[in-house]
Amino acid sequence: MTDAVRLVDIAVEHLDDVIRVRSRSFGPLDAASRDDWMKDAKEFIDGGRYLGVMDGDEVVAAARFWDFQQWWGGRRVPMAGIAGVVVSPEYRGRGVGSLLMRGVLQRAVDKGFPLTALYPATTVIYRHLGYEFGGGRYRFSFPAVGLRALGGKEVPVRRAGADDAARILELVAQAHTAGRTSGPLVWSESKVADWLADDDNFGYLAEDGFVVYNWEGGDLRVDEIIAGSEATARALWATVGSGSSIARTVSAYVPPSDPIHLLIEQEADKNAQLQRWMLRLLDAPAAIAARGFGIGASLEADLELEDAELPSNTGRWHLSVADGSGSLTPSTASSEALRLTARGLAGLYAGTPLATLRRAGLALGGSQAADAVLDTAFTSASYMLDYF
Ligand SMILES: CC(C)(COP(=O)(O)OP(=O)(O)OC[C@H]1O[C@@H](n2cnc3c(N)ncnc32)[C@H](O)[C@@H]1OP(=O)(O)O)[C@@H](O)C(=O)NCCC(=O)NCCS
Repeated sequence: MTDAVRLVDIAVEHLDDVIRVRSRSFGPLDAASRDDWMKDAKEFIDGGRYLGVMDGDEVVAAARFWDFQQWWGGRRVPMAGIAGVVVSPEYRGRGVGSLLMRGVLQRAVDKGFPLTALYPATTVIYRHLGYEFGGGRYRFSFPAVGLRALGGKEVPVRRAGADDAARILELVAQAHTAGRTSGPLVWSESKVADWLADDDNFGYLAEDGFVVYNWEGGDLRVDEIIAGSEATARALWATVGSGSSIARTVSAYVPPSDPIHLLIEQEADKNAQLQRWMLRLLDAPAAIAARGFGIGASLEADLELEDAELPSNTGRWHLSVADGSGSLTPSTASSEALRLTARGLAGLYAGTPLATLRRAGLALGGSQAADAVLDTAFTSASYMLDYF
């Protein structure tokens, strides 16, 4: 790479270049999607969350990040959701993607995000930078007739629109707090309102739940469903299943732990889909302090972290967990510490058992007895509903 290759903030005048690189990376951007893409791009620019690499006066790579929160153990943790990582074909395999991603990581740190996550198209570049798998996005398919039969007719259900965005965010928050959920994203109220305002999405609201679904080909697809009670779950799923005279199948972005698997008589189609996402801690003490832990979990452990990209995480730490909260403080203790790389720490945070991390070479030291307690504290079947 020459000196002319440098990291920049993407500005509006760069967006034509970015679209050119993007179409060579992900395929053409159709006219219908271009307006939405431009609207989002301007928000990333205004937020200082769109970076690029220039060679001379041309943009040859770009990446941006969403200002998300992510549920961890039933608490909201700010998370930089990295997306649209693209390098022009003639520049690939020369370190441009790594230069860009290092800039993005540093910007996310500067903006105070303790966590970052992304859906990898290839894991290699992200693993080099300390990301590891954090959870999955699951898509199950159910026979529409089975959903129709779920009943719940005594539960009043009404159409939902953009005005219901705040209520829907409230219902999501109640469910994830009570369920100590890990993984799902929190979108802004304006994004939720846009989603509900879209005529192609059908939103329905009950007293303690909602569903949003749409057509996909000749079948139906549930994008999100939250139900605070069995009766509401039955009513909302049956509302979707009422389309069974036309749609044979209803696919749904729900986790393996969703009650629908226990309510419906037929099991989900064996060919469920799974898209995995990767996680990285940007600020280890802040990430530990922000998440929730199991109420019964209590531990004191020494950790030795090795983070080649973000040295402020490197060093010896003391981890305490009690009463649902955790803290990570610098330590000089000489006891046998659990040694983790950035990837190992991401795995632990996301609930990957330490036995797995050890067998993958991402954790060393510590003790078996301490592993069992750490596994209990961090356990979480983390999932996401949305791709970004
Ligand atoms: C993926 C992409 C962003 C990587 O950019 P790049 O400039 O080629 O990356 P770098 O040269 O910095 O490579 C970093 C590491 O990732 C590896 N890598 C890059 N692309 C890879 C691929 N497609 N498959 C496997 N490994 C890959 C490199 O070999 C290198 O690892 P190494 O040092 O062990 O050899 C780029 O190839 C691209 O734009 N692809 C098309 C769009 C895309 O898939 N974007 C990612 C969306 S998540």
